[in-house]
Amino acid sequence: MATPPASLPLNKLQDKVAIITGGASGIGEATAHLFAEHGARAIVIADIQDELGQTVANSIGPHKCKYFHCDVSDEAQVQALVDFTAHTFGPLDIMFSNAGIVSHSDQDVLSLDMPQLDRVFAVNVRGMAACVKHAARAMVASRVKGKIVCTASIAGKTGGKKRTDYFMSKHAVVALVKSASKQLGEFGIRVNCVSPYAIATPLMTKLYNKGKEEVEKIYQPFTSLKEEALKVADIANAVLFLVSDDSAFVTGHDLIVDGGFST
Ligand SMILES: NC(=O)c1ccc[n+]([C@@H]2O[C@H](COP(=O)([O-])OP(=O)(O)OC[C@H]3O[C@@H](n4cnc5c(N)ncnc54)[C@H](O)[C@@H]3O)[C@@H](O)[C@H]2O)c1
Repeated sequence: MATPPASLPLNKLQDKVAIITGGASGIGEATAHLFAEHGARAIVIADIQDELGQTVANSIGPHKCKYFHCDVSDEAQVQALVDFTAHTFGPLDIMFSNAGIVSHSDQDVLSLDMPQLDRVFAVNVRGMAACVKHAARAMVASRVKGKIVCTASIAGKTGGKKRTDYFMSKHAVVALVKSASKQLGEFGIRVNCVSPYAIATPLMTKLYNKGKEEVEKIYQPFTSLKEEALKVADIANAVLFLVSDDSAFVTGHDLIVDGGFST
């Protein structure tokens, strides 16, 4: 669970209604808890891991947090998610489009598995686009000056020796965010992304088939901040900044949280 440092005042999201995709695990789960701590009135966790998602929702409290099964690669399910949120809790203020996957094969260009590339794109690109589209439509229709944040990655800045499909998909997320921010500014809707460095979430521990600390040890040497590994709470705090009034004039921004790795 994400616990904000004592210096961050609470209630930055008083009365806000938020959707978090990929909220059953990792970054999304930590962000759901942080949004609740900051006074969000309602949080809808959208995921395909039903049992985990329900557990997270229950731990926050059924009065303010609900789980909704949604495969973001299916636009109809994304539309249903946004409709459910508005009907259950009222106008949508925040969309954190965070669900993402990584290929478990190397996916270098010489051996690129195209159906696998299609699956990565279906979730990481098509899914993000559907979430931005339907959140923005709901915000425009209800005249809410909403906030949309997508999870990109430092893989959206460079090329990679492996996982070409993942690197391509995260570049696309940054382009989606930049374009959407230009188009939605006239409605007062801010669109940003957060780009994490490697974190030992289930996405990474399953990829490496290693424990959390072992995964952290692989990546720790490459950042400037040597003492600590990147944690989900660090990303949750960055997302909180982007969806709160603290970032009132920030849009089209890619907030890199990488301990100086890409500098
Ligand atoms: N962990 C890292 O090192 C890292 C680094 C940079 C960016 N990211 C990005 O952060 C985001 C969150 O990943 P995480 O590290 O918390 O991993 P995670 O596996 O812990 O969480 C991802 C969640 O997304 C859900 N999900 C997967 N496919 C889905 C779909 N089709 N529809 C709805 N939900 C789906 C999963 O069930 C899971 O609960 C992803 O977009 C990932 O690419 C992760």
